[in-house]
Amino acid sequence: MTAPLILGIESSCDETGIGIVRGRELLANEVASSVAEHVRFGGVVPEVASRAHLEALVPTLRRACEVADIDLNELDGIAVTAGPGLMGALVVGLTAAKALAVALNKPLYGVNHLIGHVAVDLLDHGPLPQPCAALLVSGGHTSLLHVRDITGDITEIGATIDDAAGEAYDKVARVLGLSYPGGPVIDQLAQSGNPKAIAFPRGLTAGKDQAKHRFNYSFSGLKTSVSRWVETERLAGREVPAADVAASFQEAVADVLTAKAVDACQYLGVDTLLLGGGVAANSRLRELLAERTAAAGITLRRPRPGLCTDNGAMIAVLGAEVVSAGRRPSALEIGADSGMPISTVLA
Ligand code: KG4
Ligand code: ZN
Repeated sequence: MTAPLILGIESSCDETGIGIVRGRELLANEVASSVAEHVRFGGVVPEVASRAHLEALVPTLRRACEVADIDLNELDGIAVTAGPGLMGALVVGLTAAKALAVALNKPLYGVNHLIGHVAVDLLDHGPLPQPCAALLVSGGHTSLLHVRDITGDITEIGATIDDAAGEAYDKVARVLGLSYPGGPVIDQLAQSGNPKAIAFPRGLTAGKDQAKHRFNYSFSGLKTSVSRWVETERLAGREVPAADVAASFQEAVADVLTAKAVDACQYLGVDTLLLGGGVAANSRLRELLAERTAAAGITLRRPRPGLCTDNGAMIAVLGAEVVSAGRRPSALEIGADSGMPISTVLA
């Protein structure tokens, strides 16, 4: 069978993404973001996001078809984010996908957004050696995964017990008076700061946490520690060295994320680590992970930064893998699942 031509629709948060792939070849990746409409609220407003998806979906779809130079009738299937994410936002994409599937008489594949983040690397680096481990770091999730088959056999061996890494970035940015989303701004600011200036805590890395939380993360203590530190400086009338705070915070995040990911690979006995999610665009995380995996003899696969944040290509390529593996399409009756478990690849 030739590589399937798949359309991917992503609408779980504030990006309307339409991707088109032929197997693992990227043909189009058009994204319309409503982030500017949420900035003044300091976070995504679900109702605003849903309406923006409604307005952006058809124009973004048209652009993607033009870029890929395809007609919708040529498609072999339609993949769409079924969850997790904001309910109203998910429903817009899922409804569009169902309408297209019915109108064009094509199979529908409702896939997991988080696994899409991990699968997107296949567009850059080809077939995945399996089993492997994956570190997923998005706005709402931070997890270590054992990937035996990316189309249907994935287990979570650890996750954050409180905030996700991306959430911590967004909150620390707010404390420093920076704009939303915080990740890219802190990443930029940290370039001119000293990562060793302030010793912020590394959550769940103490010896006593090894038994129960060896592969779990915690970023809530770090977040609190950063805001207390900043508050103390302000109350003392000292100027807050924002670049040093950003760099030291970022170092603490990258340190724990990478140390536990390498430990997980060794524990699982796998020699490949896959990185995915919005925070995977972070320059320090990418650098430190490359250093530590190389030292441990582990092959690191990380998608180009432009494919790390939410997009339709990640959904399309996961759909194409699912089709190539011969999995059955989703029923037209499937609903959006805002809490879709990470082990469910296909609805
Ligand atoms: O995966 P994603 O696009 O959306 C979700 O599925 O949640 O992740 C968004 C998160 C935000 O928290 C954002 O601050 C973070 O990814 N992010 C970054 C960077 N770019 C985006 N965090 C750190 N460094 C970056 N360069
Ligand atoms: Zn995402």
